[in-house]
Amino acid sequence: MKALVLSGGSGLRLRPFSHSMPKQLLPIANKPVIDHVLENIRDIGITDIGVVVGGQAPEIITALGDGSRWGTRLTYLHQKKPLGLAHCLLQAREFLGDDDFVVYLGDNMLLDGISDLASDFSADRPAAHVVLHKVSDPTTFGVAELGPDGEVSRLVEKPSYPRSNLALIGVYFFTPAIHEAVRAIGPSPRGELEITDAVQWLLDRGIRVTATEYTGYWKDVGRVEDVLECNRRVLDGLSPAVAGEVDDMSVIRGPVVIEPGARITRSVIEGPVIVGASAVLTDSHVGPHVSIGRGCILRDARLDGSMALDGAVITGVRGLHHSLIGRSARVGPSGGVTQQHRLVVGDHCQVEVAV
Ligand code: TTP
Repeated sequence: MKALVLSGGSGLRLRPFSHSMPKQLLPIANKPVIDHVLENIRDIGITDIGVVVGGQAPEIITALGDGSRWGTRLTYLHQKKPLGLAHCLLQAREFLGDDDFVVYLGDNMLLDGISDLASDFSADRPAAHVVLHKVSDPTTFGVAELGPDGEVSRLVEKPSYPRSNLALIGVYFFTPAIHEAVRAIGPSPRGELEITDAVQWLLDRGIRVTATEYTGYWKDVGRVEDVLECNRRVLDGLSPAVAGEVDDMSVIRGPVVIEPGARITRSVIEGPVIVGASAVLTDSHVGPHVSIGRGCILRDARLDGSMALDGAVITGVRGLHHSLIGRSARVGPSGGVTQQHRLVVGDHCQVEVAV
């Protein structure tokens, strides 16, 4: 069995971060989303993995290398334009050969792994096996309708009047039967080849499609709110480990990871918190639910429910809440004595100030 990880796309909903980095590399508890994905795939014994990459291919390739870190072999498949999830299968046709395979969206986090899902697929090898998750608002998802036997009877994309609350999430298992479906479908109204249309093509011909309901924690980290929520959730499972230096004047409470080379001075760290290697925190109050990237500098800062990516500098700012601070970004007080704010904010950023 092979795996296909989809790591192209345009990531418009995650601007400004996706301007400068592929969203699949955003760190959740200081580990890129796509690392979590590859670990889940490795854990079901798959070593041969195709990675679909788009405009930000160099960053993904530099970060993942040949995949030997996970005991896997990665083959990069270039998609010139993000023409849809089913288009990725067309691009990967030669790589996939006649093997069964799992398609895994590179921005999806499934904290309970995919072993049970893989076993359900392997038990009787339907042409397609989809993964469903109960959601409160199915109108924004592809939704599955199930027949009395529990098998999928119909898929409806973003239904106005959903007949179930079971949304399709970003893991699909296929036999090679899907390739004919992918070749047969045309672009959707939004101009993409949709994976749901390919699966519906199978259903229309009476070909079996089964499903497993995934009841663990799942998140598509497509928007800033999703990234922050997912980060909080992963931090909740943190195993404490303090390798960096903490001085006598600092207080560490709850589960906290301090990576090697990090220095904490006269600060309170209220877990769950992870502090990346070589970060320097001084006179600060951090947590709960905060990730601090490698090499960040915090001085006289106070933040909770937030993420600072590698190299960010935060000084003299208290009350940062549910914030996502990009790589090497600087947040601090203005130099003058007036009450004026001075902002140097890039494209598609969002700033909310307390007034
Ligand atoms: P989406 O989140 O559906 O699409 P997107 O990445 O273009 O984001 P946005 O809607 O915010 O613009 O993509 C799901 C995953 O599939 C993601 O990891 C990117 C990947 N993908 C491809 O590799 N090729 C594609 O053509 C598309 C549409 C997505």
